[in-house]
Amino acid sequence: MKEKLQRIQEEAAKRIQESDSLEKLNEVRVAFLGKKGELTAVLKGMKDVAPEDRPKVGQWVNEARAEIEVLLEETKKKLEGEALEKKLREEVIDVTLPAKKMEVGHRHPNTIALEEVERIFIGMGYEVVEGPEVEYDLYNFEKLNIPDGHPAKDEQDTFYISKDIVLRTQTSPVQARVMEQGKLPIRMIAPGRVFRSDEVDATHSPSFHQIEGLVVDKHITFADLKGTLEEFAKELFGPETKTKFRPHHFPFTEPSAEVDVSCFKCGGKGCRFCKGSGWIEILGCGMVHPHVLEMCGVDPNEYTGFAFGVGLERIALLKYEIDDMRLLYENDTRFLRQF
Ligand code: DAH
Repeated sequence: MKEKLQRIQEEAAKRIQESDSLEKLNEVRVAFLGKKGELTAVLKGMKDVAPEDRPKVGQWVNEARAEIEVLLEETKKKLEGEALEKKLREEVIDVTLPAKKMEVGHRHPNTIALEEVERIFIGMGYEVVEGPEVEYDLYNFEKLNIPDGHPAKDEQDTFYISKDIVLRTQTSPVQARVMEQGKLPIRMIAPGRVFRSDEVDATHSPSFHQIEGLVVDKHITFADLKGTLEEFAKELFGPETKTKFRPHHFPFTEPSAEVDVSCFKCGGKGCRFCKGSGWIEILGCGMVHPHVLEMCGVDPNEYTGFAFGVGLERIALLKYEIDDMRLLYENDTRFLRQF
């Protein structure tokens, strides 16, 4: 019996020595000390040993077991040490490498331009409001004096959600929504995204932004409109800026005008930027049509108002001298970083 245990012990020692990983070491532990291990088998065979010999044999088994356990433990420590060293060697940290830069974002040129416009109008006592991008045909067209079949509806073709619901083609429907709330007087601007079924090119996009303006009060005249927009142009493009009101037509204003500003590049002499004319078109405006006031619940005999609509991208392109609108949407940080 003694020899058998000796042999088992030697065999275990040999296999422990040969183990070059913690997994293999564990396999050895199971093979000798596990439930079906060799040493355990000896213990199970105890019943065949003469009763007087049992204590001695039991002691031998325990001794053999203890020795194997010591060997296992030592080898385990050794292998763990080696594994740790290997890990440390493989995961060297080179503290001399340059650190990863934190990319800090910043506002988009559209946002910068919008905040500038908002600052100017808030300074004149205006409120900033918003309306829905998915809009009823009723607000986008009907209440703005653009009934079914009106040619203006054709010019502003858009994306239809249903027969009565569209992606708004302009921010002007917010005028109707604010007037309908019935709180007068009104001084508001309404910035937001608008949609048209336009092809993408340097000056067009199926989705762009406008800023609507609306003032409704007693005794509002075209002089108020002129003074307000002149002030706006001077604040936005510099104190030397002149404005020119050209007669135009919009269905929801009467009279209507388009506003040009003197070219802030050449001061009006004519250059490449203003295509030689000295003037740059920036917005549409007019006195709110009495019929529109009426449809939105405002008494045109008591109240008058003016409105205007500015293209936000147009302002951003002009202000930052960008010659292609597509650059604003490509999210190329090398471009955006410049503003
Ligand atoms: N909604 C017009 C457009 O998209 C722009 C506009 C013109 C708005 C005149 C106005 C206005 O409020 O008075 O073409």
